[in-house]
Amino acid sequence: MPKNHKPDIEKGGKAWLYSDAVKEHFYNPKNVMTDKLLADYKADGVGEVGSPACGDVMRMWIKVDPKTKKVKDCKWKTFGCASAIAATSVLSVMVMERGGMTIERAKKIKPQDIVARLQGLPSVKIHCSVLGDQALRAAIRDYEGRVED
Ligand code: FES
Repeated sequence: MPKNHKPDIEKGGKAWLYSDAVKEHFYNPKNVMTDKLLADYKADGVGEVGSPACGDVMRMWIKVDPKTKKVKDCKWKTFGCASAIAATSVLSVMVMERGGMTIERAKKIKPQDIVARLQGLPSVKIHCSVLGDQALRAAIRDYEGRVED
């Protein structure tokens, strides 16, 4: 590597600074779906989306309490980057905390809400937070389709 080499992230004077929350959720992601769990996981809704910006893919599984219509479980798996992992990890926590979010409330989560909980994301990484948000909506649509049948 040449002596004066600067990593791309430093060119233009803008470093990709990740918050402590991003680092925590990237290094210790919550609610990740594993092959073992998936073997007998009875999801009420499953959603999968791809990011037009980068081609990465996110899949999400939810369980919904039939009486309260609250999300009682949320698992996810991604072929995405560190920001996608951190954003979806924190999203899964958001929908399950305090006894679970209602489906109606979960539909209204915006990528900005996720980014706020992460104490920010580098602007070039905002699209990564959209992936989990869209996968959640897709899983909710799948759930609603099953309930209507
Ligand atoms: S670059 Fe593809 S999800 Fe982040």
